[in-house]
Amino acid sequence: MAREFIAPGNIFTGAGALDMAEEKLSQLGSKALIVTDKVMVELGNCEKVETALKNQKIDYIVYSEINGEPTDTMIKNGLSLYQEDGCDFLIALGGGSPIDSMKAIAALAANGGNISDYMGKIIGGDLPTMVAIPTTAGTGSEATQFTIITDTENDVKMLLKGAVLMPDYAIIDPQFTMTAPPKITAATGLDALTHASEAYTSKLAQPLSDTFALSAIKRIFKYLPIAFHDGKNVEAREQMSIAALEAGIAFNNASVTLVHGMSRPIGALFHVAHGLSNAMLLKQCFTYALDGAYDRFADLAKAINVASDSDSDQEASEKFLQAVVGICDELETPTLEEYGIDKEEFFNVIDKMAADAMESGSPSNTRKAMTVEDVKEIYRKLW
Ligand SMILES: [Fe+2]
Repeated sequence: MAREFIAPGNIFTGAGALDMAEEKLSQLGSKALIVTDKVMVELGNCEKVETALKNQKIDYIVYSEINGEPTDTMIKNGLSLYQEDGCDFLIALGGGSPIDSMKAIAALAANGGNISDYMGKIIGGDLPTMVAIPTTAGTGSEATQFTIITDTENDVKMLLKGAVLMPDYAIIDPQFTMTAPPKITAATGLDALTHASEAYTSKLAQPLSDTFALSAIKRIFKYLPIAFHDGKNVEAREQMSIAALEAGIAFNNASVTLVHGMSRPIGALFHVAHGLSNAMLLKQCFTYALDGAYDRFADLAKAINVASDSDSDQEASEKFLQAVVGICDELETPTLEEYGIDKEEFFNVIDKMAADAMESGSPSNTRKAMTVEDVKEIYRKLW
C-alpha cells in the first residue's frame, strides 16, 4: 500500500543549531511574530532568538502570552498582533503550546475565521512560513501537522490537522532544553515515549515511521532518566531533543492511539498537563492494548534490551509494559488521586470523556478493537 511520509523541510539539530540556522532566517520574511511564553522571556531564551534576528536585520514583535496550554482566545489575540503589526512569518519558541499556537495563528492568517471553525476539517491554504524552536524534549510539535487548541466555550481540546501545519523549519538546539525543570523534563519526555510507542503499535504504522519510532524509544529509555536526574547533562539533553523530534516524526506519519485519545479529555476537564495525563494512562492503556499487538510491543521490548530472542512475543510485550511502568515510577508520575483530582468529579464525567476520546478518532488506531465501553472501563481502572 502506498503511503505518504512528511517531515519538516529543514531540520537543524545539535549544539549550535540556532547559530547555524540564523542566516536562513533572513530569507524568510521582513517581520517575524515570535510566539512564546513569559518563562522563555524571563530565562533569556527569547533574547537569544531576538539577537539572531537582529544580527540578520529582521524586524520582529514578541507575543509572550502562551502561558499554559493554548486556547482559542490566545490564538485570536496572537492573530490580531500578527496582522496589526504587519508580520509575514512566524517563529515559535517554547514547548508544544507556543508551537501549536503558532500553527493556529498561521492557519487563521491564511484562511480567516475562528480556530474552532476548523475542527473536524483538514486545514489547507497558503500559510506563512513557520519556524519551530522547541525548548522541551517531548511534544514533537516541531515535526507534526497537528495542533491542539482548547475551545474554551465547550471545554474541548480540539485536535486540528492539515499537512500545511507542518513547520517549514525545525531548530532543535539543546541549549534551550537545558532550562527545563525535572517535572517538565519527565512529563514531556514521557509524552515522547508515548508518541514513539503509540506510533509503532498504531494500525497506521508504516516502515518509515517504524524506523523513527524505534530509534526514539531507544534514546528515550537510555537518556530520559539521566536528563531527569541530572538536567545539566548536555549529552542526555541533546539525545532527548533528537528523540522527541524522531517520535514526533513517527506519530505524525502513523498517528497516536488510545493513550492520546483518552489523555486529551483529562487535560481539558481537569487541567492536567498533556505529558502528565499521558503518563498517568500508560499502564492501563497498554495493559489493554497488549494482546492486540504482541508482535509490535515485543519489537519495542527488544529495541530497549529488556527481552531476549528466546522470549515469546507475549513475554517480551509484558516486559515492555514493565519497563514503561518502571520509567513512569522512576520519573515520579503521580496517580490522578495523588495529583489532587476528586474521584467523584472524575466518575461523573467519564461518559463525556469517553465520548470525546472516541470522537477524536485516536482510539480507533489501536490494533486491538476498542469500544466506548472499553474506554470507560480504562478510565475507571485509573482509580
Ligand atoms: Fe503528545
